[in-house]
Amino acid sequence: MNTAPDISGHYSSGKLLERLRTALRDDGADPDHPTLTAMAPYDQFHGRGLEATEELADSLAISTDDHILDVGSGIGGPARYFADRFGCQVTGIDLTQEFCDAARHLTNLLGLSGRIAYEQGDALDMPFADDTFDGAYSMNVSMNISDKMALYREIHRVLRPGAWLALSEISRGPGEELDYPTPWALTSASSFLATPEETRTKLEASGLVVSSLRDATKESLEFGARARAMVERGEKPPHRAVSLIHGDIAKDAMANTARGMAEGRIVPIEVICRKAG
Ligand SMILES: C[S@@+](CC[C@H](N)C(=O)[O-])C[C@H]1O[C@@H](n2cnc3c(N)ncnc32)[C@H](O)[C@@H]1O
Repeated sequence: MNTAPDISGHYSSGKLLERLRTALRDDGADPDHPTLTAMAPYDQFHGRGLEATEELADSLAISTDDHILDVGSGIGGPARYFADRFGCQVTGIDLTQEFCDAARHLTNLLGLSGRIAYEQGDALDMPFADDTFDGAYSMNVSMNISDKMALYREIHRVLRPGAWLALSEISRGPGEELDYPTPWALTSASSFLATPEETRTKLEASGLVVSSLRDATKESLEFGARARAMVERGEKPPHRAVSLIHGDIAKDAMANTARGMAEGRIVPIEVICRKAG
């Protein structure tokens, strides 16, 4: 079943750029001339924000000649980080039109348009030729996609032989049904978490060779504890993307995720694999 319209609707408010301008101004930044640093609390829309992006990037060898794919690129924070750090080309694809429009606008403001392109589209049917990319990453996207085999096969198709795939994903641990809302779904109808082992099995069945699969629960819980301590001290937490994007439901969504993680029902994982070549 194609749940694409509901997923896109979950992430769209029609107010994203307006909210971002207000947030940047409150932080003392200039919304017309933001820096990557000023944007980082808002444009890294995944668990542990910029910290997770930096870690993922640290584990990859990327050169200026590389063309990298960002699957589910959101408002473009990870794409801008990779393009800025490595000087590579990045193409992002995302289902949510509002995110793609915001990603282009912000990338333009940050002077990175020459190195990054965004396509609105479905990761299950990407408008890219076979064997196009030198590497791909995807951060907190597959929890909205029920057909993981179709996703991994499609990513495998567009990677050149020998290219890498890095995933920072949310997977399912044992225990009761999750509590909703979460940052990715209002109800279980649009939440599709696989277990770490199912993820490994499906990646390998799609032709990718998994070189590492790591449980990142410990650092995620520590990150959450640090953020809560900052809020208690009256400071802004380092990761504010969920509040920016989801407004009213953000508090419950983050609390439900933190509890699910502490109880082992939600398991953040980081996976590195390669297309045989
Ligand atoms: C939690 S956000 C993560 C965004 C981005 N990866 C980041 O870390 O900043 C999940 C994103 O996945 C996108 N998404 C969900 N299903 C998708 C699909 N089938 N194809 C492309 N994008 C999808 C959503 O539109 C949303 O932007």
